[in-house]
Amino acid sequence: MVVSDKAEAQRIDHFFSMPAARADRWRELTSVANNWAAGAADAASVRSAFESLGAIEGFHAFPGRRLMAKLNEHLETGSAESFTELARRVSRSIITRRYKQDALDWQSDDAFGDDPSAFVDTFEDAERRRPYFEMLMVTPAAAMRSEKLIGEMRRLRRPEDSFIYEAVQVSSFEDAISAAIINPAIAAVTIYEGFAQTSSNAAPILRNFLDATGFGASAVSEEDRPLALANALKRIRPEIDIYLLSDRRVEAVAGDERAAAVRRVLYSVEEMLELHLTVMEGIAARYRTPFFDNLKKYAMRPISTFHALPIARGKSVFKSDWIRDMGEFYGLNLLLAESSATTGGLDSLLEPTGNIKMAQEMAARAFGADRVFFVTNGTSTSNKMVHQALVAPGDIVILDRNCHKSHHYGLVLAGGQPLYVEAFPMTEYSMYGAVPLESIKKALLDLKEEGRLDRVKMVDLTNCTFDGHIYNVRRVMEECLAIKPDLVFLWDEAWFGFARFSPFLRPRTAMGAAAAIEAWMRDPKSVEAYEKQQAELGESPSRETLLETRLIPDPRKIRLRVYQTNSTHKSMSALRQGSMILVKDVEYHTVESQFREAVFTHASTSPNQQLIASLEIARRQMELEGYGLVTNAIEIALAIRREVNSHPLISRYFKVLGADAMIPSEFRNTGFVDFLSPGVTWADQVRSMHEDEFCLDPTRMTLVCGTAGFDGTEFKALLANTYDIQLNKTSRNSVLLQSNINNTRSDIAHLIRVLLEICHGIEDRLSQGGDAGRKGFEARVKSLMHDVPDLPNFSRFHEVFRSDAGERTPEGDMRTAFYGGYDPEAVEYVPITSEECERRLKNGPEMVSANFVIPYPPGFPIMVPGQVVTPETIDFMRKLDVKEIHGYERSRGLKLIKPDMVAAGRRK
Ligand SMILES: Cc1ncc(COP(=O)(O)O)c(C=O)c1O
Repeated sequence: MVVSDKAEAQRIDHFFSMPAARADRWRELTSVANNWAAGAADAASVRSAFESLGAIEGFHAFPGRRLMAKLNEHLETGSAESFTELARRVSRSIITRRYKQDALDWQSDDAFGDDPSAFVDTFEDAERRRPYFEMLMVTPAAAMRSEKLIGEMRRLRRPEDSFIYEAVQVSSFEDAISAAIINPAIAAVTIYEGFAQTSSNAAPILRNFLDATGFGASAVSEEDRPLALANALKRIRPEIDIYLLSDRRVEAVAGDERAAAVRRVLYSVEEMLELHLTVMEGIAARYRTPFFDNLKKYAMRPISTFHALPIARGKSVFKSDWIRDMGEFYGLNLLLAESSATTGGLDSLLEPTGNIKMAQEMAARAFGADRVFFVTNGTSTSNKMVHQALVAPGDIVILDRNCHKSHHYGLVLAGGQPLYVEAFPMTEYSMYGAVPLESIKKALLDLKEEGRLDRVKMVDLTNCTFDGHIYNVRRVMEECLAIKPDLVFLWDEAWFGFARFSPFLRPRTAMGAAAAIEAWMRDPKSVEAYEKQQAELGESPSRETLLETRLIPDPRKIRLRVYQTNSTHKSMSALRQGSMILVKDVEYHTVESQFREAVFTHASTSPNQQLIASLEIARRQMELEGYGLVTNAIEIALAIRREVNSHPLISRYFKVLGADAMIPSEFRNTGFVDFLSPGVTWADQVRSMHEDEFCLDPTRMTLVCGTAGFDGTEFKALLANTYDIQLNKTSRNSVLLQSNINNTRSDIAHLIRVLLEICHGIEDRLSQGGDAGRKGFEARVKSLMHDVPDLPNFSRFHEVFRSDAGERTPEGDMRTAFYGGYDPEAVEYVPITSEECERRLKNGPEMVSANFVIPYPPGFPIMVPGQVVTPETIDFMRKLDVKEIHGYERSRGLKLIKPDMVAAGRRK
């Protein structure tokens, strides 16, 4: 890889754009070669383009060393035509990925060479379309010629194999890490003993990456190297199957603690067929989708149904004159695969014992949890299930007030009392960030000082937030556990389920952080660290000291209880409403029956079969290709960020906010500015991910449109109606763009072209509108960007709903207030524009909300039942220019609990 400038080589986007850059470099090579063949370029320029393909070609099975050698030979012998022909074919095959199916693409003119059978076998696969993957073989350099080894693996292929693979061979620890990172098709790794530590490739981007992540830094002894490599690979891509071929006493290797990372230890090279079969079995274990596999079989059976659900089997649809188009549109299989039965191997979602149970266990493996529950009513329901299962009436839950409404409703139903903690405000963009750890610690210390720590059950936060703020999940849990070692954590990762499959994001997921804490608890040094800190803190450290110190919990006392909910449908290939609850809870056995009750309470007794199947299919996809898909989503986001912010015209009117704009500097201790800021390197990024209180998910892009004169809702409508670009969230002056596993480079091109067209439109209007037009535009921008309403903090619960609350903490009995509002005699309505509203804000009696009021956007409750209405809240509501305010009827006004009812509550 030729990257001359050192700073360039360290750029984060260069790393993520390696697959796209690879395709570009092949295209470039083809174009120079065409010129060479036409006599318009010399061989030296072709040589230079060929060399720029660089070391990363060696990390891919295709085109492989044989075809690369052939290209080199054509270049050496000056065969411009042959070179161009072969380069064009390789390039096209890489771009279209045809080599995965078509054996012809692996041939050069004489490429059948010494091993024809292997290629013929590959060719037969074209008809069968077996899924294709690559296996990395890490071998000592001298011991085996890689072509021979790769050929040997090919000869083991059998028609019965369900999958087809090609081998990629490297000879060092560093190259193995690089290959696993760069080549997402690698699904299995076979490690032979005796390979080297350091790469002989001089690839600056990789060198920087390896050094920044610590994978290139420390050398390990040759004996330890295979297991060290296995463990390093697992840290990067836990889904990969790792096999170890050893000449030594395999029993001893297998008995080593660190061998847990290895799927199987095999004895020496003689076991090639055994290895082949084991590799196939490993892939099959991830490919298997027990529920879906059975559902397909079920759909093919001639079944008469005498249960409900007439749509099942499709007869009522296809025989109908009136609704046949439904069947034609959705296809017969959808109807054949419908059933309300739990027999016939279909299992029951509510009490799974068969293939749904297996599917959930496989999801637990994939997502790093102890157990997983499939939920077919969205994460709204998953959250309510967790609340009901774990929170009893009167329990306090420390909750981000800005979190999704399912948490607030969940607490109403469970009777838990929310202790609202505020996220930092981003007033200029009318949105909230995330909750500073200090606020959470303060709440816990307040409860502790009042002797009421036993009342607090759970800390409940959104990670990442809608707008992309990622918590330092491990630090939050560790510091909270240092104050209360048995706290339960609920991380709402509705948007972040995909993060498991990126090594850059995984440490900041609930399950990633829980695994790190578990490992830390097992390390004897942890007790020492805890005791050392205790000695430093002394007998009774001050509150300030506790707030300032990064607290270390006592590893012997921690009861690690972590729950994560994710909307699988939001970031993976599940159908809408497909959601999962991930559990890692050492006390789960004590709440198991409660959990089942919660599932019974909230789950539909008619769960949709296709939804269940899609959840396990999403799992299969992420386990087999999630890494590449997520890397691609990040690459696309970085490309959009780069194009928008650096385009001379687009950047005049639009901007994608960087980490510096989204996260106040006090929460970016490392000084990290943004992914693409000049001079920012991998080392900065890694340090920021490790240490900073908040990071930004690169795939969530806040695009400021107020500077182009559009409010968020208006801009969203423009993109949808005129340009067929759909997006989700808006704020007063921004929209949220999100890249996901579905996006391609064409989407970037489309977006950029559209933004450019919109900018040209603005320029035309400004140039034709004269002075008045310009002033109007400026006033509009000013109003959108500067005349923004202050965001109202949670005021307080009225004291009648705080009868069992402490002095210092703001929790309240929201449930009593909520049900109080059910009595028509107990409530009144006051319009926010009325004189009465004004008068009562000034002179009382206080107005107390009888329900939730949730404007959308921004989507957080500005009033909850039992909350005292303040001038700030009313001011915010008056300035809100959104149409949808859930819980507020414009014609009637605010729904309040009547003052005499409040007074009666006070007298009680
Ligand atoms: C943070 C968060 N949690 C939960 C949900 C609810 O998820 P679902 O739509 O799957 O019910 C949402 C929906 O937008 C959300 O943003």
